[in-house]
Amino acid sequence: MTADIRAAAAQTLLTVLHQGRSLNDALNASAPPLLKELVYGVTRWYWKLKTQAELLLTKPLRKKDADVMLLILVGLYQLTELRIPVHAAINETVNACEHIGKSWSKGLVNAVLRAYLRQGDESKVQFNDEAEYSHPSWMITLIRDCWPTQWREILSANNKRPPMVLRINRLRTDRSAYLQKLERCGLAGAPDPLSADGIILHTPAGVVDLPGFAAGLVSVQDTAAQWAASLLPLKPNDRVLDACAAPGGKLTHMLEVHPDLGEVCAIDISPKRVKLIRQNLKRQGLKAKTMAADAAELSVWWDGHPFTGIVLDAPCSGTGVIRRRPDIKHQRKPGDIEKLVAQQAVLLDRLWQTLAPDGHVLYITCSILRAENEQQVEHFVSSRDDVCVCSVDLPAGVKGRFGWQTLPGLHAVDGFYYSLLRKTAGSA
Ligand SMILES: C[S@@+](CC[C@H](N)C(=O)[O-])C[C@H]1O[C@@H](n2cnc3c(N)ncnc32)[C@H](O)[C@@H]1O
Repeated sequence: MTADIRAAAAQTLLTVLHQGRSLNDALNASAPPLLKELVYGVTRWYWKLKTQAELLLTKPLRKKDADVMLLILVGLYQLTELRIPVHAAINETVNACEHIGKSWSKGLVNAVLRAYLRQGDESKVQFNDEAEYSHPSWMITLIRDCWPTQWREILSANNKRPPMVLRINRLRTDRSAYLQKLERCGLAGAPDPLSADGIILHTPAGVVDLPGFAAGLVSVQDTAAQWAASLLPLKPNDRVLDACAAPGGKLTHMLEVHPDLGEVCAIDISPKRVKLIRQNLKRQGLKAKTMAADAAELSVWWDGHPFTGIVLDAPCSGTGVIRRRPDIKHQRKPGDIEKLVAQQAVLLDRLWQTLAPDGHVLYITCSILRAENEQQVEHFVSSRDDVCVCSVDLPAGVKGRFGWQTLPGLHAVDGFYYSLLRKTAGSA
C-alpha cells in the first residue's frame, strides 16, 4: 500500500511550496525513496504540472484544498516523468485522498488524471516559458538577461537530476582505494575527470551507505565546490579565515589539502549551522577554531591579527545549484537579489580590513547572476586602490574580467563563481 506515501508527499509539499520549508528540513535522511522522488520531482516540475492541472480542471480548487491540488500534481508527475504503471499511479493517488482526510476529492483526482491520459501532451501547445522551463517567470527573465544565448540550456539543466559527487579525504584514503571499497559495497563510481579528489557515483546513494563515511573517509561535494581548496595561494603556518563556513564543505577540503596551515578560523552567522561545521570537522579528524558570528561585525569576533587568506563563500541566490535544490525556485523572491548583493558588498568590504598586505580573498558564490558575481567584484575593485585581480583558471567554465563562472548545462558541474583578489600596498 503506497497511497500513504502519495499522501505524505502532498502534505510535505504543502510545507515546502506553501510554507517556505526547505526540502532538506522537510525530508529526513530515512524518508522512503519514493517519497523523496515525488517531493523533489513535483518541486522541480511545479510550474509545468500546475499549468497542466489548471488546463484539466473545469473550475479552480479552493485555497483550503491546496493539498488536493498537490495530490493532483503528484499524480501528474508520476504519469509524465516516472515509469510507474499507469493504473498503480492513478489508483494509489486516488486512494491517497482518504489519507489526507478528503475522500470527497477521489472522483475529482481520478477524473483529472484520466483526462490527462486521454489528452496526453496536447496541452503543451499552451505552455508559456514558465510552464515549459518550470521556473518562476521573474527568475527566467533574470537568467535570460545574464545569459541571452545560454538561458534555455541552463534552465533545462536545472531540471535534471544531478550526479552525486564524492570527495575523498586525502589524509585518510586515496581515490583508487576508495573506488575499490565502493565496488565491494556494490556501489559503482568513476574518478571525476575535473577534480583530483572527486568520484562520480553512477547511481546516487544515501550517505549511510557510503563505506567509511562516519569515519571521515569521504564527503559529498560537487566538483565545482571542490575547486575552492586549491585556488587560495596558501603557505605553511598561514592564518586563514573561512568567513561563511557552514556546513564546512570547503573548509574541511582546504584543511585536507593544506594540513600545515597555522590558525584556521571558521565563522558562520547561524549557531545551528556552526554545529554542523563542528560535526564535519570531528568526523574528518580536522581542527579549526569555530565561531557563531556575523562576519561583517568585526568588533564582535576579530582579534585584530590579520589573515593571509580569506574564503568568502558568500550568502547568495543559489541560482547555480537549482538542480540539487529545486526548492530555491520557490524560496527566492524577486526582491531577494538586491538584498543579497548588498550583503555580499558589506562582507567583502569589512573582511578586506582583516586581510594582511599581499594576502588573498577568494570570493565565491553558487550563483549564475552577474549582479552577485562579475558586477559585484567590479564594483569592489573600482571602489578601492589596493586590490589586484588574480587570474583564475579552472578545468571548465567561462573566464570573465574579474573571475571564473560555471553554468549548469554548459559545464558538467554546478553553477559557481570564483574571484581571487590580492591586497596591494595601495596609494596611501
Ligand atoms: C554558501 S553557504 C556556505 C557553504 C560553505 N562554505 C561550505 O562550503 O560548506 C553560505 C553561508 O553563509 C552564512 N552566512 C550568511 N550571512 C553571513 C554573515 N553575515 N556572516 C557569517 N556567515 C553568514 C550562512 O549561514 C551559510 O551557512
